[in-house]
Amino acid sequence: MPAQPEIRILKTAPELFEAAAAEFAAQASQAVRGNGRFTVALSGGSTPKTLYSLLATKPNIPWDKICFFWGDERHVPLDHPESNYRMANAAMLSKVPVRPENIFRVHSEEKDAAAGALQYEQVLKDFFHLSPGEFPRFDLILLGVGPDGHSASLFPGTSALNETRHLVVANWVPKFNTHRITFTFPVLNAAACVLFLASGADKAPILHQVLENSAAGLPSQKVRPSNGKLIWLVDGAAASALSPRNG
Ligand code: 6PG
Repeated sequence: MPAQPEIRILKTAPELFEAAAAEFAAQASQAVRGNGRFTVALSGGSTPKTLYSLLATKPNIPWDKICFFWGDERHVPLDHPESNYRMANAAMLSKVPVRPENIFRVHSEEKDAAAGALQYEQVLKDFFHLSPGEFPRFDLILLGVGPDGHSASLFPGTSALNETRHLVVANWVPKFNTHRITFTFPVLNAAACVLFLASGADKAPILHQVLENSAAGLPSQKVRPSNGKLIWLVDGAAASALSPRNG
């Protein structure tokens, strides 16, 4: 049964990021207790940066047992300002005792984006020891939502929306005139938990559409873990257009 979204509204942005850090820490400890490791896919964009910086200050994180992946990446070199890896490394990974061998970044410097996507797909298959047709079960996948309702790099009207076989694809995004390397819906929906973060008034219109207009047909609405949790952590400003039953 696809997961029903659990919507948690925190009054302010600082409260939102504290709640997100607490959720991350709790899930990390639980996974490490149960499986000896915590597998997490990070999101990019601007919203999670505050979370990553905050996590780097927290004492209760089993950093040496966490395996880091990315749900999507821009097709840019590592040192490019738009690199999601670069952002997460600067805000968090470079400041904490994570094992370098547990950081599985997208090789976005690969000239051929499709080759970069295939390479990352193989990384997932090897790490999770997948059989053909199997999808990885991440403990946690972090996602954001764009003003057009995209998540990861699954943008409205793009070919990756219909991918059912591959784990990772190079998705051509006309409005950015570039490829993005992104997890596909089967990977997102195989996760044990998907955690969306949304902060700020500029997210209010899309949040209303995504959470309250089931006919909108937006990519982030197709993220419904089949056997996992779906959590939306949002702040008051982002939730300002939600109806009282959600607000
Ligand atoms: C990316 C993200 C993307 C992001 C949304 C929201 O690489 O850009 O993974 O899906 O989550 O675009 O971005 P903001 O947090 O910057 O609003």
